[in-house]
Amino acid sequence: MKRITIKDKSFEVNITTSEIQARITELARQIDTDFNGKKPLFVVVLNGAFLFAADVFRQITTDCEIGFIRVSSYAGTQSTGHIKNVMGLTQDIAGRSVIILEDIVDSGDTAVYLLNELKKSSPAEVRFATLLFKPAALRQPFRPDYVGFEVPNDFLVGYGLDYDGYGRNLNEIYKLSL
Ligand code: IMP
Ligand code: MG
Repeated sequence: MKRITIKDKSFEVNITTSEIQARITELARQIDTDFNGKKPLFVVVLNGAFLFAADVFRQITTDCEIGFIRVSSYAGTQSTGHIKNVMGLTQDIAGRSVIILEDIVDSGDTAVYLLNELKKSSPAEVRFATLLFKPAALRQPFRPDYVGFEVPNDFLVGYGLDYDGYGRNLNEIYKLSL
C-alpha cells in the first residue's frame, strides 16, 4: 500500500490514476450525450476541481464553454460550514444549460449555496457533477446529478484535493490513514 506524508498526516492510496481516468471517461461520455447540442457552460469550482474539470472538458465533443468560480469553506480537514465566495463568473448564464464541476461533495453546503446563487441568474437548467461524493457527510437535501465515486466519510487528498494547500498535484486520491 502506497503511503505518503503531508505536513503532520499520513495518507494511503484510495483510488488509483487508472480508476480515476476510466470513470471520468464514462462521466464525460454521459454528459456529452445529455447536453448534445445545448451549448452547455461548464462552471468549475476552484481550486479543487481544476484537474477533474480539465479531464472532463477535453473529452466533450459538443460545442461548449467553460468558466470558473471560487469558493472556500474548509480549514485543515474540517468543513467550517461558512462559505466565502471569492470570485464570480464572467459569463452571462441566463437561458444557458449549466453544469457545475466540483471535486467533492461533503456536507453539501457549497453545492446548495452555488445552486442557489446560479439560479438567481435564470439559467435554463443547472446540473451538478462531482468527482467524489461522501453521502454519509451530507447535511443538505441535495443529490449530485453526476458522481464519479461515492466515498466513505474519510478526509481525502490528491488529484486537485488538498490538505491545507498541499497534495493537489498527486495523481491518485489518498485517504487519511490513522
Ligand atoms: P461541503 O461544502 O462541505 O460539501 O464541502 C465541499 C468542499 O470542501 C469541497 O469543494 C472541497 O474543496 C472541500 N472538501 C470536502 N471534503 C474534502 C476532503 O476530504 N478533502 C479535501 N477537501 C475536501
Ligand atoms: Mg472544492
